[in-house]
Amino acid sequence: MSASQAPGAPRKRIGILTGGGDAPGLNAVIRAAVKSAANQHCDVIGLEDSFDGLIEADRWRRLTPRDVTGILRIGGTILGTANRGNPFAAQIQTTAGMRDYAARCVEMYHHLTLDALIVIGGDGTLAIANDFHKQGLPIVGVPKTIDNDIVETTNTFGFDTAVSFATDAIDRLHVTAEAHHRVIVVEVMGRYAGWIALYSGVAGGADVILIPEIPYDLEKVARRIRDRDHMGARFSIVVAAEGAKPIGGTHSVLKQAEGAFVERLGGVAALVAAELEKLTGKETRSVVLGHLQRGGAPTSFDRILATRFGARAVELLMEGTFDCMVAFHPPDIVAVPLAQIVGRTRTVPPDFDVIRTARAMGISMGD
Ligand code: F6P
Repeated sequence: MSASQAPGAPRKRIGILTGGGDAPGLNAVIRAAVKSAANQHCDVIGLEDSFDGLIEADRWRRLTPRDVTGILRIGGTILGTANRGNPFAAQIQTTAGMRDYAARCVEMYHHLTLDALIVIGGDGTLAIANDFHKQGLPIVGVPKTIDNDIVETTNTFGFDTAVSFATDAIDRLHVTAEAHHRVIVVEVMGRYAGWIALYSGVAGGADVILIPEIPYDLEKVARRIRDRDHMGARFSIVVAAEGAKPIGGTHSVLKQAEGAFVERLGGVAALVAAELEKLTGKETRSVVLGHLQRGGAPTSFDRILATRFGARAVELLMEGTFDCMVAFHPPDIVAVPLAQIVGRTRTVPPDFDVIRTARAMGISMGD
């Protein structure tokens, strides 16, 4: 694709899809891509349910600026999404018979006469996008996840919204914990990274924050809770990332990985709460915020980031830059090679400034 379309040249067609778990801001990216593409005389084709939208001829629709009016503030994704593992390892039943999933996607991409794809997803979806690029599809990736665990970008959209929601929940739990002189353990999402726990814990004034990057010792956590009792603060708030684990132990799993599905994390808050109740003798409760963190309207920060990502993705495609992911390198949106992010996870560095700040505030990191 070239930045300047020759007068009378056929309109370009960009396919767009959303893959993996949803994150507030997906619709903002779609809206930005559709509007900026339209302003450059380009059509956008929305593909339903991630790469499944390339399986059958009836799972796509043309998106006009009218179709994306009013979706900026809405969570979820108007295109639907799917989390079903690697298309390069699957066979699928289609109206044309049993087919290799990835080969079918490439065939349909050409059948739909697409010129390029915008793939909005997390690490798994972007790795698949990179494999499709190797099959000759021109692709620009857009990083999304509430977990903020994609390398080479300071932020993914969705993270700020999840942190805001978790902070509000912690504020509410503070009130009831204080009234009853209880310990409340709040479990937040984040998979193997502690970004949501760390940021919401500091923003919500938690007393203890447990993250996967710093394995915990509950004896030390109990000591912190007793110290608070002695100074007259007879309640404590513990924020636990779903991937948090004890020293020498592993994270809690609700469901083991099976076939194309990855393992489901969860349960750490209940375990920690039961143990802390024994160690401190204090009445303890646990709360799992779960998928509430993925819903709701995106914050203004996430709307702006998502809009910048969507517009920049179209700009890159128009200038012929492919096989890259848009990334936030404050204050700029840049392009980084997709291959550079595959197979890597951005975890919280143990010497990170926000961890040092938390410790300076007397927050226990469980170690
Ligand atoms: O990656 C986003 C995320 O919300 C994680 O924080 C969480 O572990 C996972 O997705 C939950 O996935 P599912 O929606 O499949 O339960």
